[in-house]
Amino acid sequence: MALPQFSQPALSSRELWNLDLIRRHDLSGPRYTSYPTAAQFRDDVEESAWRSAMAQSNARGKPLSLYVHIPFCSTICYYCACNKIVTANRARASAYLDYLYREIELQAALVDTDRPVHQLHWGGGTPTFISDAEMRQLMAVLRRHFTLVDDECGEYSIELHPGELPPDRLWLLRELGFNRLSMGIQDFDPRVQQAVNRFNSLEQVQELVDVARRAQFRSLSMDLIYGLPHQSARSFQQTLDAVIALRPERLSVFNYAHMPNLFKTQRQIDAETLPAPEEKLAILEQSIEQLLHAGYVYIGMDHFALPEDALARAAAAGDLHRNFQGYATHGNCDLLGFGISAINAIGDSHFQNHKSLAPYVADLERKALPLAKWVSLSREDHLRRAVINALICHFAVDFATLESEYSVDFQRHFSAELQALAPLEKDGLLSVDDRGIQVLPAGRLLIRRICMVFDAYQQQGREEAAAPRFSRII
Ligand SMILES: C[S@@+](CC[C@H](N)C(=O)[O-])C[C@H]1O[C@@H](n2cnc3c(N)ncnc32)[C@H](O)[C@@H]1O
Ligand code: SF4
Repeated sequence: MALPQFSQPALSSRELWNLDLIRRHDLSGPRYTSYPTAAQFRDDVEESAWRSAMAQSNARGKPLSLYVHIPFCSTICYYCACNKIVTANRARASAYLDYLYREIELQAALVDTDRPVHQLHWGGGTPTFISDAEMRQLMAVLRRHFTLVDDECGEYSIELHPGELPPDRLWLLRELGFNRLSMGIQDFDPRVQQAVNRFNSLEQVQELVDVARRAQFRSLSMDLIYGLPHQSARSFQQTLDAVIALRPERLSVFNYAHMPNLFKTQRQIDAETLPAPEEKLAILEQSIEQLLHAGYVYIGMDHFALPEDALARAAAAGDLHRNFQGYATHGNCDLLGFGISAINAIGDSHFQNHKSLAPYVADLERKALPLAKWVSLSREDHLRRAVINALICHFAVDFATLESEYSVDFQRHFSAELQALAPLEKDGLLSVDDRGIQVLPAGRLLIRRICMVFDAYQQQGREEAAAPRFSRII
């Protein structure tokens, strides 16, 4: 077996798609934007732990990735599982921003601010809910406290709702330093849009794309969701054709996670109108075929990119990373998050802010960091995280690399896991030999399933994991 084998020589959909395997291995599982996952975060967080993690982070001096959460939306999309606040009252955003600035100031006071910011992402909610003046001010506050790098080096992105954004505002975003855009499309079919109360027309998106190209944004990313009401393989094909014609550099095709017990607004969706599992599989199969045929590369876990995009190039070079925002080209960063539900990944710990406004505000009122949860990574967590990241980003694990980095005998340490992989190997999802693990094309869509074998917390809580806490893989 040749290892590491990162490049993906134009896989065909026939190689990726194996219905029988997908049916047999379709288990619920985490998306591994972190390991340990958010389910392992604990409540007993203390600001002193954050301070010592930050001291450790400063001592290591990695570059920074900043995430800013702006939770407001002016309308509710019924399917939405994001942490958002739906309101027509713009004044709520200015009050929120005041607290956000306090939080930025509190954190920045303890960060070595010479550390360059390689990544910046404003997410939501809908970050463009705030006014132009507020966006200017927020970026000015970030620039005052941190060292943002120039346009060539930084990946600075923002999420947009195309139905809510006059194209002219893109010029301001570019002027502020954003060089990447992420647009939620979901589906262009008017019947689907009506059923989920989410409206963005092809014309609106086309206009935004035109302006974005003129303003020289470096990369456009679009989100689609399959499994929404009234969707069929045929209807989704039309949405995807329209999207492909716009040539976004990156595309995410998310599986709709219908969990009305967890997300109340999803109760507005009539479950009877959701496509049957067979239809969903047909939509996914066809989407993969369409995207690969159109020249996109399958990056992994819902993500596709054009071969010339930085993400696809990083994947081909074996230099892809995974963080709380998904796949990333700048991996060696510590993450600072600001706003409700935002996450810090600093030193050997992860911290999450309060998800709701009241405790967030209350903590900041008393000049405390608005921390709700945390987890401190053990050496074992680090090792397992490295294995899971290698699987997700490179579809391969090289034993020797991890053995020298973590001083373990991989095959002895993971003998139970390697045994658990045997049925997956028999099914043709992967191959294992003395040098490493190689995920085969048929295993790529089921990568979560493979990662779960190395997740110590999944192993501990099998019964718990049987509860539908995670969305289904497919
Ligand atoms: C915060 S939103 C993107 C920005 C902006 N608010 C918008 O809607 O365009 C992040 C993305 O999460 C995805 N998403 C939200 N709820 C989902 C769900 N229940 N299942 C699958 N994907 C979902 C959507 O594709 C959405 O574009
Ligand atoms: S999908 Fe986007 S715009 Fe819609 S409710 Fe969720 S965060 Fe808001």
